[in-house]
Amino acid sequence: MFAVVLVGGFGTRLRPLTAHTPKQMLPICGVPMIEWVVSHLRDHGVREVGLALGYRPDAFLNAYPEGQIADVPYRIAVEAEALGTAGAIRFAAQEMQLEDTFLVLNGDVLTDLDVSALVEFHVQHEAEATIALQTVSDPSRFGVVTTTDSGQVEEFIEKPLLGKSPSNNINAGTYVMNRSVVDRIPEGRPVSVERETFPEMAEAQTLYAMESNTYWLDTGTPEQFLEANLDVLQGRRKNKPAMPVASIHTTSKVEDSVIGTASHIDAEATVKQSVLFNDCHICRGATIIDSVLADEVYVGEGTRLEGCVIGSNQRIEAGVTLIGQTEPES
Ligand code: GDD
Ligand code: MG
Repeated sequence: MFAVVLVGGFGTRLRPLTAHTPKQMLPICGVPMIEWVVSHLRDHGVREVGLALGYRPDAFLNAYPEGQIADVPYRIAVEAEALGTAGAIRFAAQEMQLEDTFLVLNGDVLTDLDVSALVEFHVQHEAEATIALQTVSDPSRFGVVTTTDSGQVEEFIEKPLLGKSPSNNINAGTYVMNRSVVDRIPEGRPVSVERETFPEMAEAQTLYAMESNTYWLDTGTPEQFLEANLDVLQGRRKNKPAMPVASIHTTSKVEDSVIGTASHIDAEATVKQSVLFNDCHICRGATIIDSVLADEVYVGEGTRLEGCVIGSNQRIEAGVTLIGQTEPES
């Protein structure tokens, strides 16, 4: 089966990490997010992937010049301007000449969803499209879905007002779609699958949803990005990649953190609940807590960073204390 992966968002909430890098190229325990997504699809029999984007296609083409991501061949559909989620699906389906039923994924979601079971559910229910659902305690940030007992979607409400949500089941961002869905999407303007296409299909009673409560995380914010890393580290995911190699002084203290390749942590430094990308240098006695540091960040002696997101190539001088700060990427 073919899978369209939506990777066109700007990742604004993850700035400065996304200033020059698309969100899906950010590393989760040293492995770019897109590889996590595609290798999971590969495990469920996906044979080819289409990346739908408008922003920085070169970041993917440079990282995967052989035309494969996690051993799966990929193609790219580049929108001249952002077409919205449905517009992007339509554009990619046309560019890639999709004729059969295909998968669609929000590229910023990490999940252990049983994609094969979703496809089976779709076929059994003779649905036009099928959505995977996840149960969450605060559904207001998501698409909220109510279904009949047989799984037919009654209502799809994108980001309902706080306290106005009819259910705690949310759109988990993985869909199976028949080709006919593409013809429902108007051409020539941005269209949201969540705000237009799905509500319309719910009305037409052709949209289904399958409940699935497995590992699931939207990685859109720095907190969630940290969580995604720690979830792998602490074994909450099925797979664990080879960990990057870093040098850590024996008198330093590193807890619940991912330290990227060729990063150095000097004596008596402390790193907790943090993610360091590659080639970072943490000097003696520095403390880093609840923070994300992109490539080649230098943190001076005795410096303290707490809840910070630091862009690549930044130099934080000795003795400085930064709390909850975001440093621009140079
Ligand atoms: N190609 C392309 N073009 N991709 C886009 C565009 C576009 O114009 N707009 C958004 N995307 C991609 C994003 O990169 C992301 O992978 C996916 O579509 C979803 O967009 P987000 O901006 O991350 O949406 P969200 O997180 O607020 O909400 C979506 O995901 C939730 C689950 O995480 C919705 O689908 C919700 O209904 C859902 O519950
Ligand atoms: Mg998202």
